[in-house]
Amino acid sequence: MTLPKTGIIPDGCRSGFPARLVVPSNTGRYAHGYTQRGITVITTKEGSGVVASAVEIRGLRKVYSGFRARETVAIDSLDLDVPIGGVFGFLGPNGAGKTTAIRCLLGLVTPTKGSVRVLDSEVPRGLPDVINRVGALVESPKFFPGFSGRLNLELLAATRRLPASEVERVLDEVGLADRAEDHFETYSLGMKQRLAVAGAILKNPDLLVLDEPANGLDPAGIKDMRELIRRYGASGSTVLVSSHQLAEVQLMCDSVAIINRGKLITSGAVADVLAGHAARLRVAIDDVSGASLVLESAGFVVQPAEVPGQLIVEAGESDAARVTETLAVSGRYLRGLRVETANLESVFLELTTRGDT
Ligand SMILES: Nc1ncnc2c1ncn2[C@@H]1O[C@H](COP(=O)(O)OP(=O)(O)OP(=O)(O)O)[C@@H](O)[C@H]1O
Ligand SMILES: [Mg+2]
Repeated sequence: MTLPKTGIIPDGCRSGFPARLVVPSNTGRYAHGYTQRGITVITTKEGSGVVASAVEIRGLRKVYSGFRARETVAIDSLDLDVPIGGVFGFLGPNGAGKTTAIRCLLGLVTPTKGSVRVLDSEVPRGLPDVINRVGALVESPKFFPGFSGRLNLELLAATRRLPASEVERVLDEVGLADRAEDHFETYSLGMKQRLAVAGAILKNPDLLVLDEPANGLDPAGIKDMRELIRRYGASGSTVLVSSHQLAEVQLMCDSVAIINRGKLITSGAVADVLAGHAARLRVAIDDVSGASLVLESAGFVVQPAEVPGQLIVEAGESDAARVTETLAVSGRYLRGLRVETANLESVFLELTTRGDT
């Protein structure tokens, strides 16, 4: 078998990620390829190139100057690679710097330091070349309040020279078709959010950037949004989505980055991020301090739980019987024991509250 062309895998573009090769083709689109075991396999006959990230952030720093020269370091020394293709979750607690980073990559604010490349173009200089391939929803988008949802989208479509049929497509995609004639000002928060997402996907972007797209959505709306995002990611586009809904993120993202206080805490494929965090046992028992000592002298690593009357043993399901036995032998009987497998929420909390007082 002859291997097709290969390229260089950038940092953060781990083995197994779908990736696309930047090929100067006459269509101006990317060709498809995959990274496997460190080699990028390109499934096209088009010319050669190197694999690039959809978004590449290097040494980004953003300092906001505020009242009485008070400065806020919103982003600090941030390096980030968003692989091409798939869904990338951008996570962090309130004020971590997610929106600021997104604003930097869309050229909406000027970084204090560092560089940002989007679809292989430097921001802000090269942004005009790629902006037609980028759809974005950042915080509350502006629509004409007295115009219908459809008319607002038609105006957007017209400025981008898109056919009216595209408006119907996106209204259907976001589930707003039956309220499309209503004025924007009469929309609920969730409906406004749906319209904003419709605006972002109108140009069928190669890179879709969604800052908290589930804001204001009801459970059915959240599920619809997840499906829409997954559809986009699976179609070869790249979706960069910031969210606080970690269970959602785990369901829809191929890879994630967690930031805190403007700095990157971890990033990679969801499975890789979770892999570093083993399961643990949550034990409910009356004599927490006595039980901790007994377990520690039996060789277990024990942590205090965040609620009284419980402790956390750094051990997996296979150790549950030994934990129970150790405690029973010492005359302590547990009230409950639960195996907690690592999920994005537990990892997020562990990583973002570490060192907090
Ligand atoms: N225009 C601004 N002027 C001054 N400080 C700002 C400005 N925008 C953001 N900040 C500060 O920068 C930090 C990062 O804010 P940012 O909005 O990027 O966080 P975030 O991760 O998006 O938070 P959230 O999850 O609440 O949306 C915060 O401390 C915030 O107060
Ligand atoms: Mg934000």
